[in-house]
Amino acid sequence: MARICCGPLHTFALLTSVLILVHKDKNVSFAFSPSAEWQHSSNISYRSIPFRKNLSNNVNVSADPRTHTSLVSDQCGIAVESRIDCGRDRSLSRADCEGRGCCYVPLPQSGLGGPPWCFYPVRYPGYKMGPLLPTEKGQRATLARSEPSYLPRDIPTLQLDVMPETLGRLHLTLKDPASPRYEVPFVTSQSRGHKDIQNPLYDVDFQPDPFGFIVRRKSNGRVLLNTTIGPLLFADQYLQLSTSMASSAISGLGEHYTPITLDLNWSSVSLWNRDMAPHRSANLYGSHPFFLVQEGDGQAHGVFLLNSNAMEVFLQPAPALTWVTVGGILDFYIFLGPSPQSVVQQYHEVIGYPMMPPYWSLGFHLCRWGYTSTNITRTVVQLMRQAKIPLDVQWNDLDYADQRRVFTFDPQRFGDLPQMVEEFHQLGMKYVLILDPGISSASPPGSYKPFDDGLKRGVFIKNSTGQILIGKVWPGPTAFPDFTNPTTQDWWMDCIRVFHSKVPVDGLWIDMNEPSNFVQGSVDGCPDSDLEKPPYTPGVIGGQLNSGTLCVSAQQYLSNHYNLHNLYGLTEAIATHRALLKVKSTRPFVLSRSSFPGLGRFSAHWTGDVRSDWEQLRFSIPGVLLFGLYGIPLVGADVCGFGGDTTEELCVRWTQLGAFYPFMRNHNDRPNAPQEPYVFSQQAQDAMRTAITLRYSLLPFLYTLFHHTHSSSSTVARPLFLEFPTDPNCQSIDRQFLWGSSLLISPVLEEGAVQVTAYLPPGTWYSLHNGEAYCSKGQCILFPAPLDTINVHVREGSIIPQQVPALTTTASRRNPFTLIVALSVGNWAKGELFWDDGESLDTFEHGHYSYVLFFAQESYVVSKPVKLNGSLDGLVLGEVRVFGVQASPTAVWANGQKVHDFSYSPDTKVLTVPGLDSPMTAMITVQWS
Ligand code: NOJ
Repeated sequence: MARICCGPLHTFALLTSVLILVHKDKNVSFAFSPSAEWQHSSNISYRSIPFRKNLSNNVNVSADPRTHTSLVSDQCGIAVESRIDCGRDRSLSRADCEGRGCCYVPLPQSGLGGPPWCFYPVRYPGYKMGPLLPTEKGQRATLARSEPSYLPRDIPTLQLDVMPETLGRLHLTLKDPASPRYEVPFVTSQSRGHKDIQNPLYDVDFQPDPFGFIVRRKSNGRVLLNTTIGPLLFADQYLQLSTSMASSAISGLGEHYTPITLDLNWSSVSLWNRDMAPHRSANLYGSHPFFLVQEGDGQAHGVFLLNSNAMEVFLQPAPALTWVTVGGILDFYIFLGPSPQSVVQQYHEVIGYPMMPPYWSLGFHLCRWGYTSTNITRTVVQLMRQAKIPLDVQWNDLDYADQRRVFTFDPQRFGDLPQMVEEFHQLGMKYVLILDPGISSASPPGSYKPFDDGLKRGVFIKNSTGQILIGKVWPGPTAFPDFTNPTTQDWWMDCIRVFHSKVPVDGLWIDMNEPSNFVQGSVDGCPDSDLEKPPYTPGVIGGQLNSGTLCVSAQQYLSNHYNLHNLYGLTEAIATHRALLKVKSTRPFVLSRSSFPGLGRFSAHWTGDVRSDWEQLRFSIPGVLLFGLYGIPLVGADVCGFGGDTTEELCVRWTQLGAFYPFMRNHNDRPNAPQEPYVFSQQAQDAMRTAITLRYSLLPFLYTLFHHTHSSSSTVARPLFLEFPTDPNCQSIDRQFLWGSSLLISPVLEEGAVQVTAYLPPGTWYSLHNGEAYCSKGQCILFPAPLDTINVHVREGSIIPQQVPALTTTASRRNPFTLIVALSVGNWAKGELFWDDGESLDTFEHGHYSYVLFFAQESYVVSKPVKLNGSLDGLVLGEVRVFGVQASPTAVWANGQKVHDFSYSPDTKVLTVPGLDSPMTAMITVQWS
């Protein structure tokens, strides 16, 4: 029996700009001479600087006799939580701090990790902005410093471009007009500027001296960004901009091991791709300089800083944020939503909508580092089939490769690899194997073609003196392909083509592509240069940019590694996707560990070397959900964990949760206890089989969600706040999530638990298992969750297409469909099915698909094909289950024919209509009275 278990979960604190009150219609008192003018970017008048002094939480600065009184009285009276650190590049003494013209106001607690003692005064001198002049794409102004900053190699003059691109998207760049600087390639398509946007959702005001800008939501005047709270710094290797935030509910800035909303208590996150097992406060495999802010009233906005240099973002309770990046330009996209889901869509319009995955890739995948021969791998598949647990894709890790060299296979242990792959294909299965980017450079000349050929074609990254950079990865000394070079992409394609002609793999797993290097920089070390040791190094694991990777002074085709490092995985994914496209002519499947915005167009992602423990199980949920925001919806964590021994209970719970990761793969490291489903007790196997089979039954629904994300960038695995943005309780929920808008997944995440506390947003939710209804006012409910159960609830008003499961998707795709109809209080429901052959290219774009709409009203359900292309030929609707039928029906008809074997449960109010056998290509009506 369900019981209500908690009251309101969260009080949303909507915080507006702290330092500066900016609403144009309000009277404000000025702390400083309002001599400067505001410039507006488009159709709004100039205005004065409306600074407001000192809000709550002021430090009593006059109580400290050491305080620099003149600064303090005029410009240092800044609320503690709003102090912007003036000494990020190094720690400063009072003299150093004041020498920079900053305020030095010590606080009682230690200076470490809390508010800074040395902070910028209000209106710290910086760039002065000239007039905004019209351009083809918007407006442009010149910014100039009259005096240099405290940073080496200041850029004295900047060019500001303000480009209103759509009603909800503003693009703003700051660059050096005198000499071109590195700009991120590959990610966005060009020329989106459009200056004639009428009535956009935003207003922008500029403070000319010192330069800053304020972006407001036009509808309510809310300040979304206000960069006048700190100076703009723009030196060759240090670019900094601070802004106030509209609320404390910020999600993004991955890849890190965090909850779904970030900690703003004087924390920071660094973005620098790194081979690093997920743990707190570490820069992990990918970089995503994008965040979404929930404004607290259901509206949201987002910001994308298109910059691939090493970056650190500081977060403080004001709430405010400071970007510091060590190169490139400042290239901001601001998305006005107004709903959180539309923010995600607007972001994906810039970085590209996700690819459509092959259907089989949504099945269950099984891998282990340690399947050391084809026979062992075959046995795994056999045992899975004997245990009658679905398995679509068998994988091999590096074990297959001859001396760990990619594009080879071990002649002894994997001599019959091609034959094994064929056998798997005969079973209706697929096969994927690992491909590391490091190419062994130590084999005798003439014995390893990928290296010899690559050498000839000049495909490898070079060190700063023009020699091939040699690092060390699994095979020993290795060279690293430079995927920004078109020649490298062709060479990579040739390597894949030749290998594929022997081993017909169905997909490729690109690992170690941060790129990972077991020696620092290179086997010869790295030069002592400003690139290797910039004036400021973001807080990265290992302390240096070349820790665990290449020398950043290494030379690539498009720029140096300092600029391109974070793009390594993306560029490898592009090359691999392209190669598979060419050799297979079906939808490529690529799984990449390293990521950057835009990866989702080419690849799936897994969250790396997670440990087999309960905490990592729990944090895998925000990990997966955030990658949905980043446009990489095909994502999952290694089911049962990669590092360390799992327990049976953990592995069961992980398999249940993993059944709802968009990408589901069980993967394990060599030394650990085995964790294939069949190694556990019968009870555990049954529970795992139930979970994986449930996933298989839901694949038509999941595939339809992927169609939507591919065609309109809605999310697949969805945080609750995206679907229920006005419900404050959903703001930070990340122990539960949704599939699309209709399925709510509430897994067990604690050892020993046999119940789960789940929040149900307001409305009726039905148990997916038995149709029992829960009418929620927006409350937590305690549900039984014995070891064989994962709680999944269907939202009222939805129709979920399912298919009778099988051991592979090849087989399940031929099985009858079933429908779950979850009636709303008003007795209606709707749903849809996207269906194609599951693997051809661009089926949506070419119209090679079928589309079926489902709707229910009062006492009937209709399945109506609205587009057919032959893909549904021979497929039938077998059964309809209707949840929420209030009275026992006396008669049921299918397409006008009486159905005799229907059943109705008065307890759960579920009507089941089996044995329909109606072709999906025709309209089907089920009616009851
Ligand atoms: C590191 C990857 O994260 C892991 O999944 C893989 O098993 C090993 N490399 C060996 O290839």
